[in-house]
Amino acid sequence: MKNLKLDIVKAGVIFTPEIAEQAQAANALLQSGEGAGNDFLGWVNLPSSISKSELDAIETTAAKLRAKADLVICIGIGGSYLGAKAVLEAMSDPFKLLRKEQTNPTVVFAGQNISEDYIYELMEASKEHSIAAIVISKSGTTTEPAIAFRLIKAEIERRYGKQEAAERIVAITDQARGALKTLATQEGYPTFVIPDNVGGRFSVLTPVGLLPLAVAGVDITALVNGAQQMEKATDATVAFDENPAAIYAAVRNELYKGGKKIEILGSYEPKLQYISEWWKQLYGESEGKQGKGIFPASVTLTADLHSMGQYIQEGERTLFETIISVASPANKVVIEADEANLDGLNFLAGKRISEVNRMAELGVQLAHIDGGVPNIRIEIPQIDAETIGALLYFFEKACGISGYMLGVNPFDQPGVEAYKKNMFALLDKPGYEEASKAIKARL
Ligand code: PA5
Repeated sequence: MKNLKLDIVKAGVIFTPEIAEQAQAANALLQSGEGAGNDFLGWVNLPSSISKSELDAIETTAAKLRAKADLVICIGIGGSYLGAKAVLEAMSDPFKLLRKEQTNPTVVFAGQNISEDYIYELMEASKEHSIAAIVISKSGTTTEPAIAFRLIKAEIERRYGKQEAAERIVAITDQARGALKTLATQEGYPTFVIPDNVGGRFSVLTPVGLLPLAVAGVDITALVNGAQQMEKATDATVAFDENPAAIYAAVRNELYKGGKKIEILGSYEPKLQYISEWWKQLYGESEGKQGKGIFPASVTLTADLHSMGQYIQEGERTLFETIISVASPANKVVIEADEANLDGLNFLAGKRISEVNRMAELGVQLAHIDGGVPNIRIEIPQIDAETIGALLYFFEKACGISGYMLGVNPFDQPGVEAYKKNMFALLDKPGYEEASKAIKARL
């Protein structure tokens, strides 16, 4: 697979034929739709089923928003937020805002928290811009984005009037149900559908991820192409030892059985930090149930070697790490010689920064293995839309396989309701009177 190489040599796992069979059987269940949670398998063939006309419709709407606004506020949480955020961060120049000329609208996010200061500061900053909004909620009833959307919708209507607001707000939600669908129909917002059979954390390749990314100028066709290639490369018909998703799923399950309860996803490219955040939701929500599941953690390197490095090297030996390694940077910077050489670094003069980064990566890998931390390496050739598309689908497919190998339903999330009940009871939501009394007595 040209967009991704998986190296498990330093994971210290030896596969038996049974392990390979289990992984293949899990992958076959995803394909046949006979496993647990089979109402939510729409993502499996999603890349190959996205049509050109669907991508065109997304691009057309994105172009309209781009023409109207220089700041597009994307409202959503969890699976309705992290995919777009992750790809956008990976594909963006982090110093874009320092540039005098802005070619694409700035896409910012709201509704992923309930911080009063966050929303206040966003609303204040937005006053200097022409704004539009994309509101994303599959259920249409999630509290965090609903609060943010109330405020942003009101601001857009105040500024541009109700009629123009319908040109500046796009809703992405369920086809038929939910408060957001009702509102979008009532207000005449352009709408994209989150398919019923695609859960939030698997929705990055639906309009949930694709529309905000297209607005930001990301090549969504290339992103989907990369995912399509990975869909083929990880199909259930591919032999186990040629299928990177099956191998990754199998190796992490073997490590888990051997007491490695925490997986740290790391990268030496800070742009990939939010890919880790997306990955944490994907694996945490899919596998953390019935008292089981690897705890997904993340680090950004080399920064976190100066904070988490000590623990990884010598703390409790329940960790393994997976490194997303980027073979080539997009740009070239060479370290210069310095006459005084007070920092003693002239031995690096003439070397590219990426060479130093690569030696850090190799050195850390060996040090961690020596310290008892097995290492899995996922190499992508460079960061671009196609490789990121392939990486996203790789993780999704591996997650489905891994969840089935673990023996859980990877497509539900019963545990996320518990906090909502308490929050509503504490906020005196009508219908929660009894729960309200009970919870307040516990405070
Ligand atoms: O993966 C999931 O299902 C969740 O993270 C949801 O995406 C998140 O709770 C947001 O839900 P909704 O899109 O219904 O607002």
